[in-house]
Amino acid sequence: MTEKKAQLTVESKGLDIELPIYSGTLGPDVIDVRALTANGIFTYDPGFVSTAACESKITFIDGEKGILLHRGYPIGELAENSDYLEVCYLLMYGELPSAEQKEDFVSTVSNHTMVHESISSFYKGFRPDAHPMAIMCGVVGALSSFYHDSLDINDEKHREIAAFRLIAKMPTLAAMCYKYTIGQPFMYPRNDLSYSENFLHMMFGVPCEESVISPTIARAMDRIFILHADHEQNASTSTVRLAGSSGANPFACIAAGIAALWGPAHGGANEAVLDMLEEIGDVSNVGKFIDKAKDKNDPFRLMGFGHRVYKNFDPRATVMRDSCHEVLAELGIENDPQFKLALKLEKIALEDEYFIDRKLFPNVDFYSGIILKAIGIPTNMFTVIFALSRTVGWISHWHEMISGPYRIGRPRQLYTGEPERPYVPLNKRK
Ligand code: SDX
Repeated sequence: MTEKKAQLTVESKGLDIELPIYSGTLGPDVIDVRALTANGIFTYDPGFVSTAACESKITFIDGEKGILLHRGYPIGELAENSDYLEVCYLLMYGELPSAEQKEDFVSTVSNHTMVHESISSFYKGFRPDAHPMAIMCGVVGALSSFYHDSLDINDEKHREIAAFRLIAKMPTLAAMCYKYTIGQPFMYPRNDLSYSENFLHMMFGVPCEESVISPTIARAMDRIFILHADHEQNASTSTVRLAGSSGANPFACIAAGIAALWGPAHGGANEAVLDMLEEIGDVSNVGKFIDKAKDKNDPFRLMGFGHRVYKNFDPRATVMRDSCHEVLAELGIENDPQFKLALKLEKIALEDEYFIDRKLFPNVDFYSGIILKAIGIPTNMFTVIFALSRTVGWISHWHEMISGPYRIGRPRQLYTGEPERPYVPLNKRK
């Protein structure tokens, strides 16, 4: 970090202090405001719009230019040339693996895909119509009970094993959610299949016959995993970092991340996009929904549009849209009405000054649901897929924080409640 200075003057407090400014490799400079507390003043930034909560080397986003880099590699090049487990290695260790390193990593992940047999009984405690994200919050948190006593988060090897267990077991747990809700038997993972093939096998395979997995669908699934793997300090990753800052075990931290991701403003948007397209139904209704999205008195928002950081195309949405064309054509459903409707909706919205003025572009969730639906994934499993994929991002950020000096996250507030006042006995109250 290079030292520059910012001058802060607060006349009402007779305050005139210098604050250090740091520059990163890429992106905006930051002002170190830690000295303010000692001077009796806080910064105020609800929603953390202008706050850098940490230093990180994992992912860089340029919202104005629509750039997303994982350890410096552009997301488009990774989606085109890499595979999900290689991206996992890159996010965790910072470099692309050699052939030998990749083989070892894939083998280690494959050998951690099974879950303890007693986990199966956890699912039976849920209603069959439970939302799969509710189940995931429960069973991933419950993984703590199998490892909590053997986990020293200050031991790098323990942290690495926890990462392997989470990356390896999330597809198994996710597929078990789906099987439980449709009343089919759980499928065991198979070590002879790739990560994405294995997930599809556990999702759609049945004990009565050999799984037949389309290479096109497996590739599309793997690309979706790559596109959702990490995204800087988003709400769920920040949740994982905050939970981790108290020293909580990584399984509990990832369960916290899953809960945060579930919201429709975040990872839950992919499911909400498909529900919205269902509700719109036909391109003739698009105008009505665009008007609803613009109406300040209507809570409806165009799901899959807008982003806190991207004020240009989300590069993942672009890759996803191109994949839509490819996957739907391969499956012979290129005239999928919802894809056509989504393309029309995007075109109309991007020509509307409300969206242009606010720089509201399609984000990663706008097209992902269309591919997931084409693959045969039910809508209520979309955010589970997002959580499965994002686990490597969450655990990489958790590992990065715990590996260096860190403090418990503890924001302050602007208090606007009652000033101090004496207790009033019950018989004296009005
Ligand atoms: C993800 O942070 C990440 O990196 C997240 C993510 C990741 O990979 O982790 O990228 C994944 O969560 C993508 C976002 C998925 N969510 C949605 O698609 C839901 C719809 N989008 C919005 O809810 C909203 O755009 C957010 C939540 C994504 C961003 O909210 P902000 O940054 O707080 O923006 P805002 O709500 O302040 O909106 C600014 C303006 C407002 O209008 P004005 O008050 O200025 O008049 O834009 C409007 C908003 O009303 N607006 C929308 C809109 N999104 C913002 N209006 C209609 N439809 C929308 N979708």
